[in-house]
This record gives sequence, structure tokens and C-alpha cells, in this order.
Amino acid sequence: MLLEIDNLSIAYENEEGASVYAAKNVSLTVDRGQVLGLVGESGSGKSTVSLCVPRLLPSPPAKIVSGSIRLDGQELLGLTPLQMAEIRGKRIGVIFQEPMTALSPLHRVGDQIAETVLLHGAVSKAAARQLALEWLAKVGIPDPAERARAYPHELSGGMQQRVMIACALVNEPDLVIADEPTTALDVTVQAQILKLLGGLIGRSSGAIFITHDLGVVSEVATKIAVMKNGEVVEKAEDVKTFFANPKHPYSQSLVGLSKKYAIS
Ligand SMILES: Nc1ncnc2c1ncn2[C@@H]1O[C@H](COP(=O)(O)OP(=O)(O)OP(=O)(O)O)[C@@H](O)[C@H]1O
Ligand SMILES: [Mg+2]
Repeated sequence: MLLEIDNLSIAYENEEGASVYAAKNVSLTVDRGQVLGLVGESGSGKSTVSLCVPRLLPSPPAKIVSGSIRLDGQELLGLTPLQMAEIRGKRIGVIFQEPMTALSPLHRVGDQIAETVLLHGAVSKAAARQLALEWLAKVGIPDPAERARAYPHELSGGMQQRVMIACALVNEPDLVIADEPTTALDVTVQAQILKLLGGLIGRSSGAIFITHDLGVVSEVATKIAVMKNGEVVEKAEDVKTFFANPKHPYSQSLVGLSKKYAIS
């Protein structure tokens, strides 16, 4: 199994020192070739669980209370920050809702992609730069040689998102974590980016795709988990089965709502 999250509990400590649980005994798996759609209302713990995997939660206030996270059988929770930094960006790629949280405003986008390659691989600068151009083309950025020299603020939101996707995928990670990667974009660009991601997350890798939008899940996910108040209330290995027969009352209301608002 590529990713095994077992009985993971995470709490945030508030100013008074009290712990508020944001994840309670969460167990999830993702295998190669699978895209797990993680859905649930705002504050249900989707980002907390997913960003704990690459250890991107601010700690404090976040505290991993118990559980296990294994990548290809290797326990991640015992690793040092340095060991985790090595895995992040190489074996785990992360795509956020806001590209500017991941991109540096001060560096040209081509350099940023090349830097990600150089950080994790023994390649020459020229080879890294070449790879950056190839990935700019792969994520659908026209005129890569020209655009590589642009700073992020010179690009549209959709183009920035494509650059971040290139940064996350250039080292061909085994696991991709995408946290609402299209929410900030307008609808047509959303559709393009989803299609792109669907094509890039291949058979040899797995992904967690976090979204509010069940329509998105039905397009990109192979399996699904529904979270509510820090708990996984329903899991389905097959997305179609889930949509045809959601079991938990909360899932039923989600599916009901998504059908009600699906106009086309
Ligand atoms: N840095 C933090 N400090 C304290 N509490 C936090 C912090 N980050 C998240 N929380 C709390 O943890 C719970 C889960 O939040 P989380 O961001 O994981 O939810 P989410 O499902 O990703 O929501 P959204 O759909 O809005 O992104 C919420 O109650 C939230 O208030
Ligand atoms: Mg979130």
C-alpha cells in the first residue's frame, strides 16, 4: 500500500492550553493508481489530516496525539524534520488552493521549478532548467521559454496554479496531495486544471484530492472518504457506488444537494 493512515488523531492547542481535536481516529489508505476524494464541510479536518502526511501542519498549535502514517510501509511520524524535508517535494508533492502560498514572488517561475529539481536530484543546472521548460509545456503554459522568465505576479491565477502543479509534480512524486486546488479559479479554468491534473496523476502514483465539490470528486476521484467533525463518517472504494448509494445520513445530504444543484 502506498499510503496508510491508521487511527490518526490530531489536536490543536488553544491559548488556554486546552486541546481541540481536529482529527479523531482517522484511517485512510491510498494505493498507486488511486485518487482519494476527501470531502466534508468546512472545518471537518480535511486539510489537517492531509497536510499532516507531508508534515506541513504548524506545530504548535497542531499536535499529533496518536496514530501512524506509512508511505510504502515506512513510518513517517518518527522521521526527523530533515528526513521529512527530503521526502516532501520528492516522494510527496503538494498543491494548495492559493498558488502564492507555495510560489516565491521573488523568483522567476522557471527557476522555481528548476530549483525543486536541484533540491532533490543529482542533476546539472542545465538539465534542471530543461526539465522546467518541459514541465511548463506539460502543464499547458504556452511559450515555455518565454514564460519561464516571468515572475509569478506577471501570470494569471490559472497560470500560477499551473506553475505550482509543475513544481509539485516535476520530481514525479509517488503521492500527490491537492488541497482545493481549483477553488480560487473561475469555472472554465477549474475544468482545464482538473483535466490536466487527472491526466498527470498516473498509474504509478496515488493522490488525495480535497474538495467541497462533489462534482469534482465524480470527475477525478476513484474512491472517496467523507469527513465530519474530525471523523471519517463514510468511506467507499468506488466512487460510482458511493454516488448511487451513500450510506451515512450526512453523505446522503451531500449527494442530494449536489444532484439538486447539478443543472446540466
Ligand atoms: N492553526 C490552527 N490552529 C487552531 N485550530 C485550527 C488550526 N487549523 C485548523 N484548526 C481547526 O481544526 C479544525 C479542522 O480544520 P481544517 O482546516 O483541517 O478543516 P477543513 O476540512 O480543511 O476545512 P476547509 O474546508 O474550510 O478548508 C477546525 O475546527 C479548525 O478551526
Ligand atoms: Mg481545508
